[in-house]
Amino acid sequence: MAKPPTPQRQQPSSASGVALIGFGTVGRAVAKILCENSNRSLRLTHICNRNVEKKKQPWVPSDVLWTDDVESVLKSDVGIVIELIGGLNPAGQIVRSALQARKSVVTANKQLIARHGSDLLQLARSQGCQIEFGASVAGGVPVLPALRFGLCGDRLHGIAGILNGTCNYILSRIENARIPFSEALEEAQARGYAEADASEDLDGGDARAKLAILALAGLHTKVVPESVRARTIRAVDAVDFDYAAQLGCTIRQISRADLKEKTLFAEVGPCLVPAESPFGRVQRNLNLVLTSGQYGGDMAFLGAGAGGDPTAVAVVSDLMFVAQNLSAGAGKKDLAIPVTTPEISSDFETPWYLRFFVRDQPGIVARLAQILAGHHLNIDSLLQKPGFDKASLPFVITLEPCRDALLHPALQEMAGLEFAIRPCLCLPILR
Ligand SMILES: NC(=O)c1ccc[n+]([C@@H]2O[C@H](COP(=O)([O-])OP(=O)(O)OC[C@H]3O[C@@H](n4cnc5c(N)ncnc54)[C@H](OP(=O)(O)O)[C@@H]3O)[C@@H](O)[C@H]2O)c1
Repeated sequence: MAKPPTPQRQQPSSASGVALIGFGTVGRAVAKILCENSNRSLRLTHICNRNVEKKKQPWVPSDVLWTDDVESVLKSDVGIVIELIGGLNPAGQIVRSALQARKSVVTANKQLIARHGSDLLQLARSQGCQIEFGASVAGGVPVLPALRFGLCGDRLHGIAGILNGTCNYILSRIENARIPFSEALEEAQARGYAEADASEDLDGGDARAKLAILALAGLHTKVVPESVRARTIRAVDAVDFDYAAQLGCTIRQISRADLKEKTLFAEVGPCLVPAESPFGRVQRNLNLVLTSGQYGGDMAFLGAGAGGDPTAVAVVSDLMFVAQNLSAGAGKKDLAIPVTTPEISSDFETPWYLRFFVRDQPGIVARLAQILAGHHLNIDSLLQKPGFDKASLPFVITLEPCRDALLHPALQEMAGLEFAIRPCLCLPILR
């Protein structure tokens, strides 16, 4: 059978040449949208990837140049470079070189923006071009454009979100099926929601990079991701969902940042949230971001936080925004709001959930109560479900609100108790 002819395209009159660097999950989906919508004022001229011969697709018009030579792309006359390689290097060097060559950049790269976003925005401004990174947090959910443009008239002081779809998938599976953590992780890996080494997701590294980007865009604060405390979800057990339910709650990985004067209270980790709250209702691998502003109050943004197509929509939307500015002859569209470098603290004041696994013996509760009283911490409730093996008995103490820094020494003292068979799981309760 004869091969169908390679599609040719009519060139739009006000075309901006666009080069795509990185033809993987997102890059491919971006190219699809651009190739299927030839009436846009955007013209894909280059696709660049290593080992490019293996990447070629018949649905890409024949006038698009496939190359593995990044330098030739940067030397070409394209107006916009889309970086979809990911990681810090060589992606960072490519983005800098593009901006230095006065090309605007669209990227989905959270590692790069979390670490160098503020400097790259400044470089773009000084070169009279733009860098947009709307897909770097919450994939297809347009929360970053909302923070940078839609809400820039407010004075935001708080951002909280479910920013990692892998963690949310695992936690909501344990919640719904009461399966062990290891089984939920295996299931997420089998479905392609978690990588073979999912440490960045489970231990909070991915979410805190995203939180740093949200803090830059919405709170105008420069935050080094590693300065934000991240707690793992690995210690959350199916029984924690039983106890959380008794408290009217469920468990989610929450990333939160509250700006109070010159301190940014920020943290990522599993928290109890009311089951009927917006966070409690987020299932599977969806993302949710809530913002709090001095004038506009609370806002919510919900949707697909990952996946080729939703993320590509965010990339193409950024691309259209940049192209519009270029065709209007406006190189510098970003409002240069001053960025501050606050002190970072995880010393939130909340009620707490403490779950113990103990070898049962008389006097356990009295001993724990004595330690807590010694640190001036008030018990709110004590929960113990019947029917567990006395050799490995889970029970819960909840505490009235207190600061993290006051609770910490008590937890250290409890860690040495002879009847404890697992470290105490300590979760903030967000009401
Ligand atoms: N996937 C998502 O759902 C999602 C969501 C939000 C944001 N993002 C972000 O989007 C970006 C792209 O993610 P992705 O999932 O599309 O990644 P991916 O599937 O791994 O694609 C990356 C592509 O870049 C190519 N590449 C890597 N290093 C290169 C180099 N030095 N020179 C040339 N090409 C190179 C890879 O080629 P090989 O095939 O040869 O490795 C691959 O084709 C990342 O920054 C990611 O964090 C992704």
